[in-house]
Amino acid sequence: MSRDERIRILLVSIGMYGQKYLAEVTEKDVGGDVAAIVDVAPDLPERFPVIGEKGIPVYRSLGAFFERDRADLAVLSSPIHLHAEMVLECLKNGANVLCEKPLCLTEDETLKMAETARKTGRFLAVGWQLNYDRAVLRLKQDILEGRFGRPLRFRCVHAVRRGRKYYARNGWAGRIMADGREVLDSPFMNACAHQFQMMTFLLGGTMESPVRVTSVQGELYRGNPNVENYDIAALRFQTEGGVPILYYTAHPLKTRNLGQDGVAEFEHGRLTWGRDGVFRMTMDNGESICYGMDGSTPVMQKLYDAVRCTKEGTAPLCGPESGLAHLCGVRMAQLLPVRNIAPERVTWLEEDGDLFPCVQGLEETFLTAAENWALPGEIGLSL
Ligand SMILES: NC(=O)c1ccc[n+]([C@@H]2O[C@H](COP(=O)([O-])OP(=O)(O)OC[C@H]3O[C@@H](n4cnc5c(N)ncnc54)[C@H](O)[C@@H]3O)[C@@H](O)[C@H]2O)c1
Repeated sequence: MSRDERIRILLVSIGMYGQKYLAEVTEKDVGGDVAAIVDVAPDLPERFPVIGEKGIPVYRSLGAFFERDRADLAVLSSPIHLHAEMVLECLKNGANVLCEKPLCLTEDETLKMAETARKTGRFLAVGWQLNYDRAVLRLKQDILEGRFGRPLRFRCVHAVRRGRKYYARNGWAGRIMADGREVLDSPFMNACAHQFQMMTFLLGGTMESPVRVTSVQGELYRGNPNVENYDIAALRFQTEGGVPILYYTAHPLKTRNLGQDGVAEFEHGRLTWGRDGVFRMTMDNGESICYGMDGSTPVMQKLYDAVRCTKEGTAPLCGPESGLAHLCGVRMAQLLPVRNIAPERVTWLEEDGDLFPCVQGLEETFLTAAENWALPGEIGLSL
């Protein structure tokens, strides 16, 4: 396929996140056009007038689409527990796939999808946008080349406020099971997964691979009593090679966005990063090195990379194995006990027509624990 040829893009599910892909493909020139949308929601043409304006066909299942048509690239933003079977169906029908993160629920599913991609000669890319970020890629290259010496320990605080509307938008948010299948939804699994996945990516032994996670210690809480799974997590993972990763994430907090606030210590320097997407390395010899000062990579770079790879017959760096450490971490964390926060420690905040549970003192607890490279209970803090 030549660079100028336009590719046919199938958008699978255009809910809270998938609509960003719809906007990108219909409002900008991404190098391809929407062949069709697959989604079961009945009211899509009313919610997205562009569907009628551009005459985009809408199907209720992948089977119905592939019976009549074909696509060069399928972009999946479907519920997590549907990813594996949808990815397989797209690959088997000749489409390359960009699937939103997290890819799936088990390592077996990951390996099966990777094998199917290999056999069909198509790629399976995953939408971990930080793995497409040019600053992160340059940083990883330098870590791999040993520019900062051995990595010693990593940590990050990243929590975002989520309230009633977020949990009410579908049948799987905050659930352990949905439609009789595991979904394990939590801030660590889903909304705040990126920073943890990125740290495992930075510690991986090759440009493609993440480090392996070997064990976890942690504290899980349920601040929002309507959530089935946990919604607050302070976790310490050990990784192959001995670099611990501490991660603090939650949804029931007063602050809209806490973090990202990341620190990575190396033999010869200390790396910090925040919400501005800039990674600042201060070396022990006083040298400072910045990644991302030239402007951050757009979140949708993943789509542009996937379109380019479709035309070239190559594959994006962020393949099926990219999320394995995160998946392993999610499954390990899921086995930890969950403590309910006492209702008198939760206040309910009404804002923007939404209702948010806020656990008192959560922000301070996380920031103090992170500063001390500790879990809250280890330094006498409790929620
Ligand atoms: N990369 C990011 O920053 C980011 C951010 C948010 C969400 N996500 C990911 O995007 C994915 C979707 O999350 P969301 O929050 O948009 O979910 P959502 O529940 O808001 O939307 C899911 C969509 O899937 C549709 N759907 C349900 N069953 C279907 C079926 N059988 N066939 C086709 N469509 C079906 C629903 O109608 C809905 O439109 C998840 O993997 C999530 O983790 C990624």
